[in-house]
Amino acid sequence: MGETPWDKGYASPPLGEFLTKWGVTGRVLVPGCGTGHDVRLLAGKGADVVGMDIAQSAIFRAEAFPAVSRECYVLSDFLDLAASYRATFDWVVEHTCLCALDPSERSAYVDSVCAALKPKASFLAIFFREVSDYSGTGPPHPISREEIDLLFGPHFECVQSFIPTQTYPSRPVGSEEVCWMRML
Ligand SMILES: C[S@@+](CC[C@H](N)C(=O)[O-])C[C@H]1O[C@@H](n2cnc3c(N)ncnc32)[C@H](O)[C@@H]1O
Repeated sequence: MGETPWDKGYASPPLGEFLTKWGVTGRVLVPGCGTGHDVRLLAGKGADVVGMDIAQSAIFRAEAFPAVSRECYVLSDFLDLAASYRATFDWVVEHTCLCALDPSERSAYVDSVCAALKPKASFLAIFFREVSDYSGTGPPHPISREEIDLLFGPHFECVQSFIPTQTYPSRPVGSEEVCWMRML
């Protein structure tokens, strides 16, 4: 899609695969929601979803889609989480926000995930584990299993994790990993 090659025009297939087995319910935050395909998928399954993005253009494009249910979009910096979003979510759903950040911002990202969630709430991530021909100059920046454990291990227990078989054609099976974690 021209200037936004990450926008595939439909929701993350691994997220869809997750939702065939488990539910994502209650109040849900999708940081770095882009044009909101994942937000609308989750809202269509009954969740009360906030899509957050730092780019006004993304929010405008997301809001231009017909409403599915109880979703909304906010222009806000996830790394500087406003007080009104703290400890208010049952789930944070990550898909291609973390890989868009500079790796030096990853611990701030984890802090915001923890701050957004209610006690014992869930973090669902579709991690970009491998990027073909990655030269270290992304984005997207892949993340290793070791770094996932280092960043999230002190705050979360793993509930489920798997390599999705449903993927965008441009993301080969094995390049993404779905991790469902619960706050300790
Ligand atoms: C690679 S795009 C992915 C968008 C969407 N998740 C998708 O897959 O279609 C990354 C998005 O994260 C947003 N973003 C980057 N840094 C952010 C921040 N600090 N707070 C909120 N959104 C951010 C960008 O504006 C962009 O829309």
